[in-house]
Amino acid sequence: MKGTPGRATLDAGAGAGAGAGAAPARVLIVGGGAREHALAWLLASEPGVERVVVAPGSDAIGEVTGVDCRVECRPAIRPTHGPEVAALAVREAVDLAVIGPEAPLAAGVADALLAAGIATFGPTAAAARIEASKSFCRAIADDAGIRMARGAAFTDLRAAMAFARGLASGGAGVVVKADGLMAGKGVRICTDAADAEDAIRTFAAASAAAGSAAADGGEAGEPLVVVEERLAGREASVIALCDGRVALALPAARDHKRLGDDDTGPNTGGMGAYAPLPDLDDAAVAEIVRTFHEPALAALARRGTPFRGALYAGLMLTEDGPILLEFNARFGDPETQVLLPLLERPLGPLLAAAARGRLAEAARALGTAGHVVPAEGAATVGIVLASAGYPELPRSGDEIHGVDAARATGALVFHAGTERDASGAWRTRGGRILTVVGVGSAIAAARALAEQAADLVDFAGVQRRRDIAAVVPRRAARIVAGHPPGVGAAR
Ligand code: AMP
Ligand code: GLY
Repeated sequence: MKGTPGRATLDAGAGAGAGAGAAPARVLIVGGGAREHALAWLLASEPGVERVVVAPGSDAIGEVTGVDCRVECRPAIRPTHGPEVAALAVREAVDLAVIGPEAPLAAGVADALLAAGIATFGPTAAAARIEASKSFCRAIADDAGIRMARGAAFTDLRAAMAFARGLASGGAGVVVKADGLMAGKGVRICTDAADAEDAIRTFAAASAAAGSAAADGGEAGEPLVVVEERLAGREASVIALCDGRVALALPAARDHKRLGDDDTGPNTGGMGAYAPLPDLDDAAVAEIVRTFHEPALAALARRGTPFRGALYAGLMLTEDGPILLEFNARFGDPETQVLLPLLERPLGPLLAAAARGRLAEAARALGTAGHVVPAEGAATVGIVLASAGYPELPRSGDEIHGVDAARATGALVFHAGTERDASGAWRTRGGRILTVVGVGSAIAAARALAEQAADLVDFAGVQRRRDIAAVVPRRAARIVAGHPPGVGAAR
């Protein structure tokens, strides 16, 4: 049994077999949040995985125990420092490196690992620009005929403001986004044209100060803001394992980005999620992979920057069909925490095969035909507990009570911003602190368990939503097969 209770048993022998379906014996995970905790927990439980090294990892990740697998953290390694990470991977003789967060990807850690001969699940910096630069994402979508909200990227702020006023006067809501990586905080849903102009000024200054061109590997003079039409609908995250050409989707998940109940308050990195989505069945997910992921993979490959890693489509399911809000170049957080407990096939062999460009073969070897890695016929709900002051000014150092009690319910508790103090007590360190995940036969049961467990955890100023998966849409989302070309382009 692993450090976190409640893991459903994997298919006996599912990791067996050689070639493209084989499990990686030694794995390096880059990162140290709840997503990486979930990855370490799952991989350590899988047949054939002997050793999981996590850089930097965390106190909680260091406590994960597999039956035949050791999990060790390397807190001194800087996760965005390519040479340090690559040297560790070589020293540990890993068969596979898996990169969790966006910052190491944007910083070229995959490039350093690949140069050192390490099979790597996570795109190069050039391919990761699909997340790091929203303007690059729009360029790929245009190339590939992928549908995005009406909008454009701007270097010239006056042009951005004129475009925003045009949208507003036409009756559309306006959304303004900073071009570079902003940890989920670079998006403003604007109330009117004046608000949009203020957002354009604010984000342009922030993008310039963050050196978005340097951060995303682009050039000086690159766009600073994206302005687009506000879309209405339900959101969905469709994350696919990709090997450069082939995409294999995980079940669809739904994140809750706003801090407060009923989608109020500021945007965050994500306050809770559930999976799978009753309104997006396997056939719908397969159609989404065909119309969003596969064309993006083809466009990136045509540019000479094939994408190997998790390609995450953040979608708005509108009355007129799904529309892309963004691509991320990694597993989602908290989506990963609710998706991994559902997987019926071992993940390690699929990640290893994706890293080697042999995903289709591995999927066949593991009996995972088609686009979707099948779920177990179970559902998960994850509730994020965040610190006082999150997202603007998260406070650290508060003692966390009740983690063991929460785990004793059978819920999974994945740690993001925590550390053990000298007395062994857990303390907050950062913004998002824990993801508490309930697994059940259906969403209602999973939610009941997650709520019960989350209620047992307490720390000063804890913030959490109480409406994660409270209302679950049942009506199938409208999926429009094929899109008219060019609808993503503003002009
Ligand atoms: P992004 O980083 O682009 O995914 O945006 C973060 C969040 O902002 C999304 O998950 C949505 O909740 C919201 N958002 C972004 N773009 C739009 C849009 N065009 N219309 C409505 N909401 C949006
Ligand atoms: N859950 C949103 C993200 O991972 O970006």
